[in-house]
Amino acid sequence: PALESIVGLPDFEWAARHKMNTSAYTYYRNGAAGEWSYRNNLEVFQRFRLRPRVMVDITKIESTLPTTILGHNFSAPFFISPCARAGYAHEGGEENLVKGAAAGNILYMASLYSSKTMDEITAAKGNNSAQVLFQQVYLTDNDTETQALFSRIEKAGSKAIVMTVDSAADGNRHRAARYGVGSADSSYSYLTWDYYHKLSKMTSLPIIPKGIQTVEDARLAVQNGVKAIMLSNHGGRQLDTTPSSLEVALEIHNRDPDIFKQVEVYADGGVRYGADVLKLLSLGVRAVGVGRPFMFSNVFGAEGVEKAVKILKHEVAIDAANLGVADLKKIGPNYVDWRSTNAW
Ligand code: FNR
Repeated sequence: PALESIVGLPDFEWAARHKMNTSAYTYYRNGAAGEWSYRNNLEVFQRFRLRPRVMVDITKIESTLPTTILGHNFSAPFFISPCARAGYAHEGGEENLVKGAAAGNILYMASLYSSKTMDEITAAKGNNSAQVLFQQVYLTDNDTETQALFSRIEKAGSKAIVMTVDSAADGNRHRAARYGVGSADSSYSYLTWDYYHKLSKMTSLPIIPKGIQTVEDARLAVQNGVKAIMLSNHGGRQLDTTPSSLEVALEIHNRDPDIFKQVEVYADGGVRYGADVLKLLSLGVRAVGVGRPFMFSNVFGAEGVEKAVKILKHEVAIDAANLGVADLKKIGPNYVDWRSTNAW
């Protein structure tokens, strides 16, 4: 498949299936156990119908896409979620993701388990050294190591630390195991809110917990003073039958909507189309992460990543226009019918 033939984000997976070897493709594609969460992440978006408004002046919609994430300016309310081993798709690995994000002016969150070193990823910013990156981490219970890691991250110029909290143990990954692909992420059950306070004293950077899956934990995060949270079930790769981030956002909306005003809320999992982004934003999510499609787009190198950004940006704009949203900042829950039903 050629890059010109790609018209939507799902096409990148189709291309990657042809271009990557089976075990590398399987590592990206994999979900935990029966992959119910993996599928639900994708399917949940069609369970909630849009409620388009007509006769609305939408001529300025494109100019309302830019947003800030923790005060940093970006051209769109979506970003590249942290995914390990970009080198499986292309020898340029994470460097391509940095360049694609720079070209499209969106945020890239780099994974701790990258194929390139932190220095190589930082160097990929090249002429665009003002580019803002966030750094994802898995932590051990060794404070000396953590302090050293945080210092490296600060020195590299990352603007925030994204702390993955949904991986207290390894993901139960049958698909990967069948192909003999390693699936291990860190196990650190020792990670608690008490420990978070110790961690936050080790760095001046904001620490964003990634993998919040209930309104209770969102509330606890706020009470413990975080600046932002990320709703995620790790792309359905950790614990199967966990909710999609849209369902968690809806739970927060129903039970404690102030959370959306108290901290910045990000969300990822299964986002493939412009309308998916709109549904998350309508509940109060500030920015939406995309994982696999960007990883797959990297089979075409930085150009592929750049095209993926362009496609999603275009879809967000035209879908918002067709939904009758004049200003993306003013999208609200009334644009979606939240009565979940398949009975049409
Ligand atoms: C991930 N994800 C992930 N998350 C994280 O916090 N640290 C990591 O190192 C990784 N690694 C990783 C590798 C691969 C190949 C995938 C597909 C995912 C999870 C990622 O950040 C994100 O939550 C999901 O990918 C979002 O779901 P979609 O967009 O892939 O459906």
